[in-house]
Amino acid sequence: MKIFITGTSSGIGYGLAKKYLEDGHEVFGVSRSESEELNKFEKFHFIPQDLTDFKYAEINISNMHKKNEVIDLVILNAGILNEIKDMSQTTVEELKKSMDVNVWGNKVALDAALNMAEVKQVVAISTKAAVRGNRGWNAYAISKSAFKMMISLYAQEYPHTHFCSLAPGLIDTNMQDYLTNLPDDERFPSIDRLKAAKGTDKMPSPEEAADMLSEAIEKVRNHESGSFVDVREM
Ligand SMILES: NC(=O)c1ccc[n+]([C@@H]2O[C@H](COP(=O)([O-])OP(=O)(O)OC[C@H]3O[C@@H](n4cnc5c(N)ncnc54)[C@H](OP(=O)(O)O)[C@@H]3O)[C@@H](O)[C@H]2O)c1
Repeated sequence: MKIFITGTSSGIGYGLAKKYLEDGHEVFGVSRSESEELNKFEKFHFIPQDLTDFKYAEINISNMHKKNEVIDLVILNAGILNEIKDMSQTTVEELKKSMDVNVWGNKVALDAALNMAEVKQVVAISTKAAVRGNRGWNAYAISKSAFKMMISLYAQEYPHTHFCSLAPGLIDTNMQDYLTNLPDDERFPSIDRLKAAKGTDKMPSPEEAADMLSEAIEKVRNHESGSFVDVREM
């Protein structure tokens, strides 16, 4: 398979890229920093690119792909978290920054792939935060909610491509390091659940989770294109 993943330098994107490469697939990756571990694989093609540099992201990602090739799977995974705090304390600039990476950066990457290639499946890495309104998740929740809607809209435009928003469950990444190291704060009870899961099998490492996630990515094809699916409810 040919697989294109945004955000391969760490976390879920790294874990999935490594798993697919170990299984012999060809992986195209993009993030700002690179992974020396992934670079060791002959079938790993990487460009260092900030997805929020929209113009160059589009040009450079298009150049990664050959015209009219088949891309079996696009995983829109790159994302950032905001500081956990109240909406009223969050600036418009902070909201825009999350939108730029989590929504528009992935849109530019997706458009570049769709314009160059025949894409069979698109998986947008989502989160329960896209559908819950838990206090403190402000820019992240808003951007992931918009991202989920964007995927539903693409699904209607590309009937031959399967789209889904996939919530991966809790995975022990940089994002969870930040969240689980926050001081206790009764305003944000949703963080307590993450702290309790850290270091247990409820929060596997990206490499431990990669098999489960790649199976989920296969199974989501049984759901209607454009759906939101949570791996914990499959
Ligand atoms: N971990 C969880 O429990 C969890 C749960 C639900 C959803 N998610 C979602 O999973 C996805 C991956 O997050 P993670 O937990 O694996 O965190 P992570 O380790 O911080 O990974 C984020 C990835 O996104 C890339 N990225 C960030 N900003 C970028 C930019 N401007 N341009 C290009 N690439 C950029 C990062 O690479 P560079 O910094 O090198 O650019 C990195 O490879 C996110 O969409 C997140 O919302 C995670």
